Amino acid sequence: MSLPEMQAPAGAGGIRRLLLKVIVSAVALLLALVVISLSVGSSLPGASLRAYLTTGARGGSENDATADFLLSTRVFQGDQEPLPGTVNSSEASLGTREDDRNMPVPVATGTCDLYRGEWFFDSSGPLYTNNSCPLITKTQNCQGNGRPDKGYENWRWKPEQCILPRFDAAKFLEFMRGKTLAFVGDSVARNQMESLLCILWQVDTPVNNGTKRMQKWIFRSTSTTIIRIWSSWLVHRSIEAVEFAPQGLDKVFLDIPDETFMELLPSFDVLVLSSGHWFAKRSAYILNDNVVGGQLWWPREAGNMQMNNVDGFAVSVETCLTAVAMNPNFKGIAVLRTYSPDHYEGGTWNTNGSCTGKVKPLDEAVRNGFTNTMYEKQVAGFKKAVQNSGEHGSKLKLMDITEPFASRVDGHPGPYRSADPNKKTQRGPDGRPPPQDCLHWCMPGPVDTWNEMLFETIKRELAG
Ligand SMILES: *[C@@H]1O[C@H](CO)[C@@H](O)[C@H](O)[C@H]1NC(C)=O
Ligand SMILES: *[C@@H]1O[C@H](CO)[C@@H](O)[C@H](O)[C@H]1NC(C)=O
Ligand SMILES: *[C@@H]1O[C@H](CO)[C@@H](O)[C@H](O)[C@H]1NC(C)=O
Ligand SMILES: *[C@@H]1O[C@H](CO)[C@@H](O)[C@H](O)[C@H]1NC(C)=O
Repeated sequence: MSLPEMQAPAGAGGIRRLLLKVIVSAVALLLALVVISLSVGSSLPGASLRAYLTTGARGGSENDATADFLLSTRVFQGDQEPLPGTVNSSEASLGTREDDRNMPVPVATGTCDLYRGEWFFDSSGPLYTNNSCPLITKTQNCQGNGRPDKGYENWRWKPEQCILPRFDAAKFLEFMRGKTLAFVGDSVARNQMESLLCILWQVDTPVNNGTKRMQKWIFRSTSTTIIRIWSSWLVHRSIEAVEFAPQGLDKVFLDIPDETFMELLPSFDVLVLSSGHWFAKRSAYILNDNVVGGQLWWPREAGNMQMNNVDGFAVSVETCLTAVAMNPNFKGIAVLRTYSPDHYEGGTWNTNGSCTGKVKPLDEAVRNGFTNTMYEKQVAGFKKAVQNSGEHGSKLKLMDITEPFASRVDGHPGPYRSADPNKKTQRGPDGRPPPQDCLHWCMPGPVDTWNEMLFETIKRELAG
């Protein structure tokens, strides 16, 4: 509506007509906006949930604290022996379930979107228990740490258009006969790797052949190798001084892939990459040998940053995935597992943030501005890498777990990250309760579903 129209004729009737006109125009505008947003939504799946809710980087010390918490969780010791424990489990059940038979056909096909669907309760129980897997990291052993509820172990994911089969460990090993699967990432990647090992442990006891450089488990029945390599940012990292960024500070080289795993790339048949949480950590970002930005670090005299942490994240994903896809000696597939959502309420891990009392999935995913931004940046980096890689872009797969797992508020250890029986009452010297873990996932728990999704992806891509 143009301004002259707004200049109302005098008189009561004129004002009424004007009001009516204004209302009609407003309703028309609203309808137009709804139509526009709907059509945008349909061309960009999940756009409504994943729309940017925040602007750029989330600064402040809480990020650093969250990342330090990630740091504090165990970095693997390569030479460690497998922990003692029983391997057999009467509880671990494999193979076709009644629920599978009751579900509508067809089973997963190449066209089914695995990541759109819903959680349903499956009373047949988890793929392993805290007693049947000897290598659950203590902080993820929720049952062993006294968590009173068990429902969170029993939810399964049902994609809209197909079935996500219950993980068949024997089938997986057969499928991966003579092959190597590598997880590269931070402590959440470790969480997924250990979940896979626990599932496979139910049918074959692996041999630990790890080194300082990588964790390595070999399933001798099929000569299947599972590897994990720590890489916080997936790109090169150094603490040497660069320009005005001092020695000691972490430098994240956004345009150089992390050599620690790139050197081994040709030996991988399946590579599962993930990152993100370390972009909340204090560091300097380097691009083209120049300091272009920082997180929780930036000298005032350096002027404006060229790049914040979330944009740096996008560049790092593009760099790493492009290098992986373009490596002529890499014949396998690389799966990018998207950002793992956390569920702290009322604060972060060190500011009384909590997920206590969450015993079932939410009906709707939690919207979290930072998670959504990280997810968007990661997917943007992934898409650019696919473009950069031309025909080799088909080696890159997206494991799009962020939205399905945004509703799994019940799946974290919360206060049950330690076996200390007094954990709920024992407070720090300042009277604060001990920090909770609402970021990693209980084992068994929702993280096992990541491996069901991964197996489906592998089956689709490596079959034949
Ligand atoms: C594991 O189970 C198999 C068969 O189910 C049995 O033969 C074997 O003795 C069991 N091993 C242990 C350590 O319980
Ligand atoms: C497993 O959890 C149960 C409680 O459900 C507990 O009694 C048991 O000690 C735990 N075992 C291990 C090895 O953590
Ligand atoms: C484990 O590694 C060593 C040397 O690194 C090798 O000699 C041995 O054969 C490996 N074990 C298995 C089961 O592959
Ligand atoms: C956390 O809770 C304690 C009391 O339990 C309170 O004194 C403190 O101010 C809280 N901290 C924050 C950051 O809310």
